[in-house]
Amino acid sequence: MKWLVVTSLFVLASITHSVSANKRVAKPLVQVYYESLCGDSRRFIQRQLYPVKTSPLGEHFYVDLIPYGKASTTQSGDSYTFDCQHGPDECKGNKLHACAIRHLNESMSFEFVHCSMVANYPPNALDECTTKLGVEKEEIKKCVEGSEGSELLARHGERTHRLTPKLYFVPWITYNGIFNEKKFQQSLSDFKSVICSVLKDEGKTPESCEGIELLAKQVDVGSGSESSWVQQPRDALLQLLVTFCFLLGFI
Ligand SMILES: *[C@@H]1O[C@H](CO)[C@@H](O)[C@H](O)[C@H]1NC(C)=O
Repeated sequence: MKWLVVTSLFVLASITHSVSANKRVAKPLVQVYYESLCGDSRRFIQRQLYPVKTSPLGEHFYVDLIPYGKASTTQSGDSYTFDCQHGPDECKGNKLHACAIRHLNESMSFEFVHCSMVANYPPNALDECTTKLGVEKEEIKKCVEGSEGSELLARHGERTHRLTPKLYFVPWITYNGIFNEKKFQQSLSDFKSVICSVLKDEGKTPESCEGIELLAKQVDVGSGSESSWVQQPRDALLQLLVTFCFLLGFI
């Protein structure tokens, strides 16, 4: 009987342990809600997101790009029409990105979006960017011109409309799905320090973050401190279980 208790506690402890171990190796996720003809989106991707993501620090976080922004979607039957903040060409550009994100792998789609956002006119960058990156053009073209592009854009729209709080600026940036005003504001001018602060809050200090001035630890109970709040009780529980098993073993 005693061993049954000990064994089940060990099983429980190792489950808890693997859950918290997973949590530790998981990388933060940066979600960027943007639109193709928006100057601030272009600047953020060009000057902040891209240089950091393609530096050694880039392997410590994931990026999720959601091209839609301050648009609206109207569905009639199976088809969609979109109304974009900077006009129809912006919708075309957003579709182009949505299709590239769907049809290229993660690093290539990131390169593609960057290539388009630094081009003269992002909505027309298909030829230029597929050539530059040496990737297949036809598949993306077919997607943009057909119903697939619309369906993908509609899905980006649903994600954007579901945001809480609602997006009031583009690009809109969340960390692990959570919007934090201070992190968002600072991201626009110093994304690196924000990602280093997010990593630090998760107990990670990559070499590339050394000497970087971090954001003051978020004390507000709201958005910012959620991940450490989740992690600590779990670690405490694990400790308790291990100690308990250890003591039981001695009885
Ligand atoms: C992504 O796609 C490109 C081009 O098709 C290829 O060269 C590269 O190895 C792929 N990367 C990964 C991580 O699969």
